[in-house]
Amino acid sequence: MMPFLLPLLLAAAPLAEPPVAAPAPTETEAPVDWDKEFGVVRKARDPATGEIPVDPYVQGDANAGAHPFAGDGMARAFGGQAGIRRITDRTLDLSVADPRIKAIFEEHDMVRLRRTLFEQVCFILNAGCRYSGRDMKVAHKGLGTTRADLNALVEHLQQAMREAHVSFPAQNRLLAKLAPMDRTVTER
Ligand code: HEM
Repeated sequence: MMPFLLPLLLAAAPLAEPPVAAPAPTETEAPVDWDKEFGVVRKARDPATGEIPVDPYVQGDANAGAHPFAGDGMARAFGGQAGIRRITDRTLDLSVADPRIKAIFEEHDMVRLRRTLFEQVCFILNAGCRYSGRDMKVAHKGLGTTRADLNALVEHLQQAMREAHVSFPAQNRLLAKLAPMDRTVTER
């Protein structure tokens, strides 16, 4: 190449854009750690059970809030433990998808709720379970649930029982056991 062409070529070469430094986050842009701001301590899930530990309480079947049925008729009407598991899981699936009440379940341990709700219904139906959860007053304290929220949850339980082909008399017998709990699970 002719030596005098080199400066011309260099002058024609496109200049690389200088790197643009990201602007430093201002006070308003910096993400706020709300847990830290409000002193919220999140407990880690137990690696074995996947549940978040709760404050200590005295365990016992009395916490289930109702006496179990006698005999195995109700357990059979619900399809035994497998049928009960499907019904309690379905009730919760419908509840967390229901715009009327889904917000109440957010930030709560659904792994534990699935286990304890199953145990409670299984115990009440005399299907061979012990209830290891908290009593209804303690478990629902501060949730602020209303009568309308309870009605919505009961609707989902009824749908789940209907889908599982539980007979109407058996459905109503379970609902009659749960009905007296209304004032302990609602606050308004
Ligand atoms: C008769 C009706 C009800 C029964 C039998 C029932 C049963 C239960 C049980 C067994 C637990 C778990 C206790 C434990 O963790 O030791 C629980 C907790 C809970 N229930 Fe209910 N429940 C009822 C009504 C409701 C309603 C109407 C709502 C809201 C729509 C609700 C929302 C919750 C929530 C969010 C928790 C978790 C609380 C926590 O994480 O501390 N429950 N319930």
